[in-house]
Order: sequence, then C-alpha cells, then structure tokens
Amino acid sequence: MTELTGNATHIAAEENKLIIETYGAKAEISIYGPEIIRIRISKRNAAPRESFAVIREPAALSPCHEEADAITLETGALTLRIDRFPLRFSFFNKNGQLLGADDPRFGTTWQGDRVITYRKLFPGEKFIGLGEKTGNLNRRGSNYVNWNTDAALHTPETDPLYKTFPFFIGIHDGLTYGLFFDNPHKSYFDFGATTDDQMSWFGADGGEMNYYFFGSASVAKILEDYTWLTGRMEMPPLWSLGYQQCRWSYMSAAEVLDVARKLRERQIPADVMYCDIDYMDNYKIFTWNKDTFADPKAMIDELASMGFKLVTIVDPGIKIEEGYLQYDEGIREKFFAAYPNGEEYVASVWPGRCHFPDFYREDVREWWGRSFAALTDPGVAGFWNDMNEPAAWGQNIPWLVQFGKFTLPEVRNAYGLEMSKATYLGTRKLLGNKRPFVLTRAAYSGIQRYSAVWTGDNAATDEHLLLGARLVNSLGLTGLSFIGVDIGGFMGDPTPGLMVRWNSLGPYIPMFRNHSAIMSKNREPWLWGEENERIIRKDIEQRYRLIPYIYACFYQSHTTGMPLARTLAIDHTHLEPVYDPRFQNQFLFGPSLLVAPVVSTVEETEVYLPPGTWYRLSTGERFAGDQVIMAAAPLADLPVFAKAGAIIPMQRVIQSTSFAGDGVLELHVWHGHEPSEFLYYEDDGDSYNYLDSDYYRRLLKFDPESNRIILGQAKGRFASRYREILLLLHGFGTHTPTTFTVKNDRQQILVTITK
Ligand code: GLC
Repeated sequence: MTELTGNATHIAAEENKLIIETYGAKAEISIYGPEIIRIRISKRNAAPRESFAVIREPAALSPCHEEADAITLETGALTLRIDRFPLRFSFFNKNGQLLGADDPRFGTTWQGDRVITYRKLFPGEKFIGLGEKTGNLNRRGSNYVNWNTDAALHTPETDPLYKTFPFFIGIHDGLTYGLFFDNPHKSYFDFGATTDDQMSWFGADGGEMNYYFFGSASVAKILEDYTWLTGRMEMPPLWSLGYQQCRWSYMSAAEVLDVARKLRERQIPADVMYCDIDYMDNYKIFTWNKDTFADPKAMIDELASMGFKLVTIVDPGIKIEEGYLQYDEGIREKFFAAYPNGEEYVASVWPGRCHFPDFYREDVREWWGRSFAALTDPGVAGFWNDMNEPAAWGQNIPWLVQFGKFTLPEVRNAYGLEMSKATYLGTRKLLGNKRPFVLTRAAYSGIQRYSAVWTGDNAATDEHLLLGARLVNSLGLTGLSFIGVDIGGFMGDPTPGLMVRWNSLGPYIPMFRNHSAIMSKNREPWLWGEENERIIRKDIEQRYRLIPYIYACFYQSHTTGMPLARTLAIDHTHLEPVYDPRFQNQFLFGPSLLVAPVVSTVEETEVYLPPGTWYRLSTGERFAGDQVIMAAAPLADLPVFAKAGAIIPMQRVIQSTSFAGDGVLELHVWHGHEPSEFLYYEDDGDSYNYLDSDYYRRLLKFDPESNRIILGQAKGRFASRYREILLLLHGFGTHTPTTFTVKNDRQQILVTITK
C-alpha cells in the first residue's frame, strides 16, 4: 500500500527547525545557508540518522509567514513555500521563479519502508550529476540505482557501478538547482523515464526522506555549496600529480625496480610505482611476501633514489588464519562484521575465506589505521583501497550482517567511504606532517575529504575511453576532483593506436595512472613500437609541463569545490550543444583548456567550441567559438584548445616532481579581448604547513585594454621554487617571449606588452 503524505496538522518552530506534523509523518525544515534548505521527512518518532557525508550544522531558522493554507520561509535568497493541504514543498528564487517542487499529486510517499519523493518535471528540464553513472551527460529520460557493486566487466550501459553520490543538478528555464538525497540505503533516481514526462522521482529502500535543496543560480555555486556541506579535498601530495605506473601485478621487488629504471633510462617522466595484491604474503593485508618482496625498505629506498614513490593496495578482506596478526587482533577485539548472534560473517575474496572489518566503528577504524605501520615503516607513501563495495565475489552479503549500529542494507553504500576514512586518518597520523595519498574504488558522498577515486575495471576499448571521460566529468559534479581511469583499459588488450590515444588524454585526466589486469598485455609505454613510445613520452611530458597549472587548479578544488576536469555543463550550462551526444565527452581542464576526447580509429573529429575565441594548443591556430569545427585529430595530436585570455603556468619537463627543475616558470597567456585572471598557487607539495599560510599565492591578470599582465602581490610565507618567470604570449601578434625575474619580495609586477 502507498501512504501519501497528508495534511499538515501541526506546525511549530523548535530551536533552529520548523517541525510539521501530518497524520503519519513528521517533517523538519532547517536552513544551512541562504541557498541551502534541508527537508527531512520521517515516519513519526523515527530517530534522526547521523550522516556519513554532511559536516555542517544548520543555521538559525529564517522568518516564516503563515497564510491560511501555506507557510512561507524566506532565507534572503530562496523562498520555500510549504503547502499544508496536503503537505507539499516548492522552492523559489528571489525573483519568484519556481526552481523545483513536489509533484502536487503525490509529494513524499511510503510503500512499507520504501520512501519516495515525486517531483514536478519541467518541460525541457535537464539533469546532470549522480557521479559515477554510465549514460549521457544529460540524464533526462534515464533511471539509476545506487548500490555499490564490484562492477567488473561493466559496459558503457551498466548500472550501478562502484560508487554512490545521490546528488544531482536540475537545469530548466535558464535556472539551476541541486538536490542531495543523503540516504545510504539502496536508492533510486528517475529523471522523467515515464511516458508523457509525467514526473521525476527519487527514493530509497529505507531510512528517511532527507534532502538538501541548493538554489544557487549557477552550477559552480551549487558545487561550492554542496562541498561546503560535505567537505572539500585537501591539497594532494605533489608527487601524486605525476605519471603513475601500475600493473596487476609487478610480481617482485626486482620487477618493480626494473620498470622504474626503464622509465628513467627511456626518459619517460614518472613519479609513482604501484604494488598490486601480489606484494603480500598470501593476500594477507599488511604483510609482505617474504620471497619476492624480501626487503621492502631497500626497494622503496631505491625507488626514492630514482625519484619514485610507492603506492600499495589494501583490500578489506582479512584472511582467516590463526597467527596472522590482523586476524588474531580482529577476532580478539570483535572488530569484524558479524551476524546478530555474534558469529563473524565469512566472505570469499582474494585471500580465500575472510572477514570484513566493521569500519562503521571508531575503534575499528583506529585499529585499521594503526595497522598501516607495516606499510609506512618501510616508506610506502600511498594507499590504494580496493574491493570495498564490499566485493564478496558472487555472494550476496546476507542482509542481517551487522555493520556498526546498522545492518548491511542500511549502510552498504558507505562502506568504501568509511574504509577510506580509516585509511586516511590512520596514515595521516603515521606519516606525521606528510600528506598521505589515498585512492579508493567504492565511495559515498563526502569521499573527497579523504581520498582520490578511480573508476574501476574498465576495458581496453574506444567506447571505454569515451565513457571514462564522461565518468570523470560526472564525478566532478559531486565534489570530487582527484579522479582517475585506468589508462589503456584494465581488461583486454588495447591496440597500439588505442594505447597512444588514451595516453594522450592522460595529461588531462586528474589522476594519470596506467593500469592493467593480470593476463592482459603489459602496458608500459615502450611496448607499442618506437614511434608510439615517442608520442606517449611527449604526452607524459605534457603532463609534467602542466603541473604548475594543475596544482593551482587543485587549490581551487580545495577552496571552492570546483573540479579540475569540468564538463562544459559547468561553464555553459544553458547551451544545447553541450548536451549533444557528439560533444558531451568534451570538458574543460581547469578554467582554460578545452579537451575533446577522440577514439583511436579516426583522424579528425567534430568539436564544439563554446562562445569566445579558442586557440589550438598544438598549432596556435585561432578559432571563433559558438560553432562546431572539424578538427584534425591524428594520434599524435589530441584536439586541445586554450581559451582566449587563458593564463596557464607551466614548467619545463622534469623526470619526477621530486627533481629540482631549472627554476623557470613559464607563464603562457593567450590573447583575448576580455580581462582575465588566474590564481597561481604553490606550496611545499607534501606537508600540511599550507594550512598555516605556508604557501605562495598570487593573482595573475591580463588586462587587454592597457595590454598589461599583472602579477599581483604574493601572499603567504612559502618561497616559490621558480626563480624566473618566462612570459610566453600567444596570439598577441608577437612571437618574441619576454623574460623577467620573479621578485621574492612579493611585490606586484606589471608587464606592459609592446609590439
Ligand atoms: C580489482 C581492482 C583492480 C586490481 C585487481 C587486483 O579488480 O579493481 O584495479 O588490479 O582487483 O587487485
């Protein structure tokens, strides 16, 4: 039977909440900011749930106005109209325009424990977001499920995948709004997948209707507000921005070192080597194989001497084996997820029969965190959290298994988040003032506080190359910025062409990691022929040249939640071609570079250039925007365009971020007719001192009217690692670069460009 939310029978303000009662339910309204309103509707007497994602508290309640059949609540930026007969919610902006509303017929309903809110669907309304979801950028007409799954062998249609982000942005009538349904149960989103566009809806198998409505007028501001609510990423360690070489698995220390040496010999820049599951003794987490990785410290020291860091994998499954430290401790302390009678739940993953730590408990998280000493002591710098959906290989984890105060169906979607949190907090403590790099496969909203993510086991096909771009862009709409895909494709063997093409996209994927599955062809850059190696090297070099820009863009993610890889829907929300399936994979990398992913089987492609002027990065050719162009796309030249006015700091190629460069910062500026600016940011790249003003930050501006480039006064205590700035002007009618020296007295510098 379906229970509709009926009439509001009683309304009262209590502290910072407005409480509304109906016959069967209770609604609580609270204000988190002028543009953020929370609606919580539960069956009467349901206890409030703690959130895994939200880190903020509500503000004071805004003034309410009572009318006969409605109450309105004004936040200064939004008006919430609460109709009483029956209880329905409508959100308006300050111009009185309707942003979003309940479907007036149904509103919020229950079917047993299943809770659903039916919403008004606007003509032409588009939907973007939900994070790691296949399908089109515009999710209109599609429906999705959130249930974190080990989606090995997924296709560009598979749903669900590994992660859950119940947050989307609606776009209609030139307006935008966001909606975050903070409920970790299995959840459902339907964006008008009904005949005659009858409605959209979202809901979950249990728990509460509990959503945050964001009413800002731009996608960027909605992301800023959403990441204010759920947290933002920290500055990543600088080394993690370099090229990362992974493989399931490099089978011995000798092999790890051999690959690292070859990268150096062949002058292919790289910063990171990985150890996948085979470094362990029988897949026992926090152990090393005594034969093949006999002296991990010696291996890591040697890697360090070549300018490499090591990342190792950890899975949640703790092997059932007496005498294995983590097993014994976990059993003794009752740290594993168990049935209601106290018996530990047994899964079967890589180590065979194993138990899952109950990461929903703080004592378990602390224990897990401490256990990383086995990895940090010899010098591991990064921690790759895998299989944390959790994957139990073809088995359905019985629903009565308890995790913390919950049972599995209530919180499965947050397991990866809680594991990553434990890994992050533990390794942060163990590493002192150094930033840990944490990577995870499963996630829930808020994961950006603890970890980078990658999109799991993709395949070596062109379709997956394009899907990967879309997944990265969509994840960027959920507060994440540090996102990777397995370059080259995890499953199967890429053609040499695909390998080259995917690596040419690599510099523009926030985390640039080459990874592949056991039994598939190795993926190292020199295995694809000499000419292809040359192209791949050039692309990896491009990554290293862009690191100053990338690092500064991550600072923006850290301070505002703006992702590094940005679907065009962020800056050009209301332009139709952005959602055209031909162009939906395109994105802006940082504010100023437009990247058009292309499959490996074509040599030219249509590119949509948004309004403005654009310059092809490789040739300097200038194009008017607001049109579709045919762009040459040979394997050696992925179409990438700089926006007019772009200010892009770059550096000369170095083989590792840990090597001192030549001390020259290249400042590339592309001519434009509008004033432009870029916030340059630098710090030591590996400590937390930046949180205490130990950074070097300055606003760079181009003013076309006075034809000046202005380097604002430097802020913070950090001394830049670049002694000189080399100014490189593009499209100014001059080809002579101008050089000048950065003054570390941090004063403003004005450069007038003379022809
Ligand atoms: C999972 C991961 C993959 C890893 C493999 C072995 O399939 O997604 O990246 O290489 O397990 O650990």
